[in-house]
Formats: sequence, C-alpha cells, structure tokens
Amino acid sequence: MNITLRVWRQDTPDAPGRFVEYDAPDIESHASFLEMLDVVNERLTDKGEEPIAFDSDCREGICGMCGLMINGLAHGPQQGTATCQLHMRKFKDGDVITIEPWRAAGFPIIRDLVVDRSSFDRIIEAGGYITVPTGSAPDANLILVPKPAADAAMDAAACIGCGACVASCPNGAAQLFVAAKVANLNLLPQGQPERWTRVEAMVDEMEKYFGSCTNHGECEAACPKRISIDFIAMMNKDYIKAKFKNRRMAGQGS
Ligand code: SF4
Ligand code: FES
Repeated sequence: MNITLRVWRQDTPDAPGRFVEYDAPDIESHASFLEMLDVVNERLTDKGEEPIAFDSDCREGICGMCGLMINGLAHGPQQGTATCQLHMRKFKDGDVITIEPWRAAGFPIIRDLVVDRSSFDRIIEAGGYITVPTGSAPDANLILVPKPAADAAMDAAACIGCGACVASCPNGAAQLFVAAKVANLNLLPQGQPERWTRVEAMVDEMEKYFGSCTNHGECEAACPKRISIDFIAMMNKDYIKAKFKNRRMAGQGS
C-alpha cells in the first residue's frame, strides 16, 4: 500500500516543532505501525536524512513505551490496542496519516514523537509499592483473596503506563493511570496496611503534574487495556477517607 505521513518533527524540547510530509510507498499491509515507521526510517537513513525519533520496547502491548497520537487518536483507530499492536491493514491505500507525540503539559516533548513520561515514575515512587513484609511465596499463596477482589486487582494491573489516558483527556488528567495503580494494590489484602498513605501520596504527587478529572471519559475510550473509569471513583472515595484516617493516625503517633 502507498501512504503519506504527516509527522511532527521537533529537534529539541525547546525548538519549535513542525509537520513534515513523507511519501511511504510499498508498505506491507501486514506490517505493524511501528514496523512501517522502521521502514520509513531506513529509507530516510539511506538518503542521509535524520530518522524520526519514536519510542518502543516490547512491541507486544506490554511495556507502554509506544504511545503515538495517530490521526488525532491516542494509539490510533483500533480501540483496546497499543500503537505497537496496530497494523497497517487498518488503513487504506492512499491514506494520509498524521502522527504526533502525546500532547500534555505533564509529558514534555523530548524530540519528534518522544515525550518525557517520568512524571508517572514520580507517582509510582510516591506509593505504588508494598513495603510491609508479605512473607515468602508459599505464605502469599496462603492469604485468601476474595475472587471479585482478585479479578478487579488483575484488571487494574493491566495498566501498562502508556499515558494515552492523559493524552486523550481535555484536562491532561492522569486519574485513570493513578487509579489503576492505586487499585491494583489497594484491593488486595497485602495492600491494606499502606492503603491510606498510598492513595494520599500518589494523588498528591499526581496533582503536581497533571490536570483535574471532570469525567469526560476520553481516558477509558483511549486506553489500550480498557481500564474502567470505575477505578477513578474508587480512588476518589479512598482519597477522601484517607484525608481523615491519615490525620487521625498522625495524631495518634504524636
Ligand atoms: S490507564 Fe490505560 S491509557 Fe492510562 S496509562 Fe494505563 S494503560 Fe495507558
Ligand atoms: S512497545 Fe511495548 S507496549 Fe508498545
């Protein structure tokens, strides 16, 4: 198939960006979107031009590195699919495809299609872990987890941290990501001792970088792992409770 790409090119974080058009003839329809970009980059390199910078790692929909805005949609036109698992057969011969980086204040552009998502790392560092001893693997297997809690925790754990939720949100809010990361620990027995400090710390850290949720729901629609916005409601409820519980616990300690 023959396509035309309109790609956002930006040399440095502070340089002005611009769209550059590239003809991409003879692209295999069974190629993935990233394989198509690899081909375009090989051709650019052969001509002595600078290849397009973009992120990827696993190329299996697991790592969350490959976020691109494709024709205005985070991860492109196929719902429930990360960019690396999108295939060119989803497009038509002769299509013009516009490719941009995530556009969000919390994800500054580093170069071309690559953004800095380290704000997500700061949020995980604030509380996305369990420090209480949970024993060895056999001990963990002896802890009974109600099936609905285990299922919901696994659904939340599917979040790959790609940032599509932020990029799709008109407010640039990160609630869906944070809610998933809070829930996958707070729903389990092992997550209970740090439940209230975790949610308060992670939400407070989130608010340093991202906008506020006003329930548009664009995040859920764009999420390649179909994380439910119900998790945001759970997080908000826990956050309000945490404000009381953590204050009371701090009072008991003094
Ligand atoms: S909630 Fe979905 S869109 Fe947001 S970071 Fe996780 S996987 Fe990506
Ligand atoms: S490259 Fe890992 S999820 Fe796409």
